[in-house]
Amino acid sequence: MKPALKIEHLNKYFGKRQILHDISFETYPGEVFGFLGPNGAGKTTTIKIAVGLLRLDDGEIEINGKSLAKNYEAAMADIGGIVENPEFYKYMTGMQNLHQYARMRGGIDQKRIDEAVEIVGLKNRINDKVKKYSLGMRQRLGVAQAILHRPKLLILDEPTNGLDPAGIKELRDVLKNVAHKENTCVIVSSHLMSEMELMCDRVGILVNGAMQGVHTVEEMISSSSGSFAEYIIRVSDCNRALEVLDFIPPENKSAEDENHIKIRLEKENAEEELFEVTARIVTKGLRLGTVSPVENKKLEDVFIELTKSGGVQIG
Ligand SMILES: Nc1ncnc2c1ncn2[C@@H]1O[C@H](COP(=O)(O)OP(=O)(O)OP(=O)(O)O)[C@@H](O)[C@H]1O
Ligand SMILES: [Mg+2]
Repeated sequence: MKPALKIEHLNKYFGKRQILHDISFETYPGEVFGFLGPNGAGKTTTIKIAVGLLRLDDGEIEINGKSLAKNYEAAMADIGGIVENPEFYKYMTGMQNLHQYARMRGGIDQKRIDEAVEIVGLKNRINDKVKKYSLGMRQRLGVAQAILHRPKLLILDEPTNGLDPAGIKELRDVLKNVAHKENTCVIVSSHLMSEMELMCDRVGILVNGAMQGVHTVEEMISSSSGSFAEYIIRVSDCNRALEVLDFIPPENKSAEDENHIKIRLEKENAEEELFEVTARIVTKGLRLGTVSPVENKKLEDVFIELTKSGGVQIG
C-alpha cells in the first residue's frame, strides 16, 4: 500500500539548535496514527513541516507518493491539515462556512458537503450560526472542512486540547470514522498516552526530537505487562503465607501490607498455579480472602518510562 505520509531522515534546525533528529516513519490510508511526545518533543514542528507551513531543511517528505519539495502543489492537494484552531465566519452558519470554503477550493459538490457534515455528526446543528457552536462543534466543523476535498491525509495537532470529556469522545469517534470509513490516514498529535490508546491504531513516540519507535496500541499494552500476571491476595498471616508458597521464587512474592501479599506468576501457567496458591494457603490453616488480579500497567506509565529512559525497545 502506498503510504499517505512518508518521512525520511528529517532534520530540522532553528538557528544552530537541532530540533528534529533524523526522523523517519510512514503512515497509511485507513489508520489513525498517533504522534505522541511530551511538551517540546517536536510534534508541532514535524507537523508544520509535513503540511508545508515550515521549510524542510534536510530529508524527504512524500504525501501520497508526491514529494513535498519537488511537487509541492500536488502533494499539498492530498492534505487536509488543521494545525491551529480553524477559523470560521462566526456570524454565518456552519453550512454557509462550508459553502464558502467549497467555492474557494472548487470541485466540491453539495453531496460531498452533506457527507462530510454527516461524518462529523453536525447534521442537526449545521444551520446554526458558528458563534453558537461549542469548541467541540467548531473542531468538528473544522474536520468537515478539512475532508471536503477527500484528502488522503488529515493531520491535526493536539485536536482535543481544551475539549471536555464528551467533546473528546465525539471528536475521537469522528476521527476514527474518517480513517476507517473514508480510508483516509488521520494523524493526531498528543502528549497523552491515554488519548492515543482509545483513538489510534498505531503510535509513534517522539522524544527530544527523535523517533523512539512506532508500535501498534496492542503491542504497547502487551509489552507493558510483560510475561507475568500479578495478583494481590488477602490472607490472615502474610509471613506464613509467603513461607508456604515455597514453589514461587522469592523475587516473585512479597507482602503488600499487613493483610495482603502480592505474587507474580508466569502468564502461561498463571491459572493453574493460582489453584495451587489458594489450595496451599487454605490447607496450611491460613485464612484466605479476596484474590485480585493487578491491572496491567497503564499505557501512560509505559510512556513515562519510555520518555524517561530516552527510549526502551518494545516488542
Ligand atoms: N520558531 C521556533 N524557533 C526556535 N525554536 C523553536 C521554534 N518552534 C519550536 N521551537 C523549539 O522546538 C522544540 C520543539 O517544539 P514543538 O513545538 O515542535 O514541540 P511539541 O512537541 O509540539 O510540544 P508541545 O507538546 O508543547 O506542543 C522546542 O524546544 C521549542 O522550543
Ligand atoms: Mg505542539
